[in-house]
Amino acid sequence: MVYLTRLEHFNAAHKLYNPNWTKEKNDEVFGLCANENWHGHNFELYVTVKGNPNPDTGFVMDVKVLSKLIVEYVTEKLDHKNLNLDVDFLQGKMCSTENVAMGIWNQLADKLPQNVQLHCIKLYETPRIFVEYFGE
Ligand code: NI
Repeated sequence: MVYLTRLEHFNAAHKLYNPNWTKEKNDEVFGLCANENWHGHNFELYVTVKGNPNPDTGFVMDVKVLSKLIVEYVTEKLDHKNLNLDVDFLQGKMCSTENVAMGIWNQLADKLPQNVQLHCIKLYETPRIFVEYFGE
């Protein structure tokens, strides 16, 4: 089994705000991230798939195909968007990096070629903060 990773990038705005809470409670829990007029991040997205290399190509999968799938189903939906307002697969969810990573997993898991499985979504919100999701 070999693990293959493609790095993609997107910029997006969001805020962390629970509408069921008071403004005071949101400020207490989320601090600057609750800023009413949004804030942005430069997200770095590592998508790792796993499989056995095809004997004819030596590839787990064609990484150009992987990149195209990520662009079509993930970054075109997220890049330069407001995560709270603009993204169909995040509607009704808190736009934490955790939930964005899980949403990305759900976008991609059933789009991969046969014999290739999604292994990990690693999403950097800042150079020092990232989450990893392995589908469970
Ligand atoms: Ni943020």
